[in-house]
Amino acid sequence: MEKGNVLMVCLGNICRSPIAHGVFEYYSKDLSIKVDSAGTANYHSGNAPDPRSIKTAANHGLDISNQKARQFVYSDFKNFDHIFVMDHQNFENVLKLAKTETDRNKVQLLLGNEEVEDPYYGGEHGFEIIYFKIEKACKKILESWS
Ligand code: 4NP
Repeated sequence: MEKGNVLMVCLGNICRSPIAHGVFEYYSKDLSIKVDSAGTANYHSGNAPDPRSIKTAANHGLDISNQKARQFVYSDFKNFDHIFVMDHQNFENVLKLAKTETDRNKVQLLLGNEEVEDPYYGGEHGFEIIYFKIEKACKKILESWS
């Protein structure tokens, strides 16, 4: 995989992808790339991340409180080189909007084969679990670029 702009995508853009956005941005800060996140749904557009995501990121030294949720839009295929989705539902939702093979080839599960499970209906512990999975995957991607 080549170095490029990264978009992290989940359903609501308030739990998983804001953490992935913050983590990837942190570890890639010297690379001059654009990192952003979006949700395939618009339920939470304009909202800050879920307080549990903000707290979990803060526990690991990252401030994601200034992020604002937005919905995935077609132009994201043009503006980003890699679109990392959290689960298969996000994958299908993003692929439905793809128009070309180039668009489709940009989309992959962040964890490769596994999903970053939706922590929304669970407790805070679930956010710690996904944090570690996300961090590990981000480091692995960045190692593959160096
Ligand atoms: P996310 O989590 O996709 O990781 O941001 C969710 C946030 C909100 C909802 C579902 C998942 N919701 O149904 O409102």
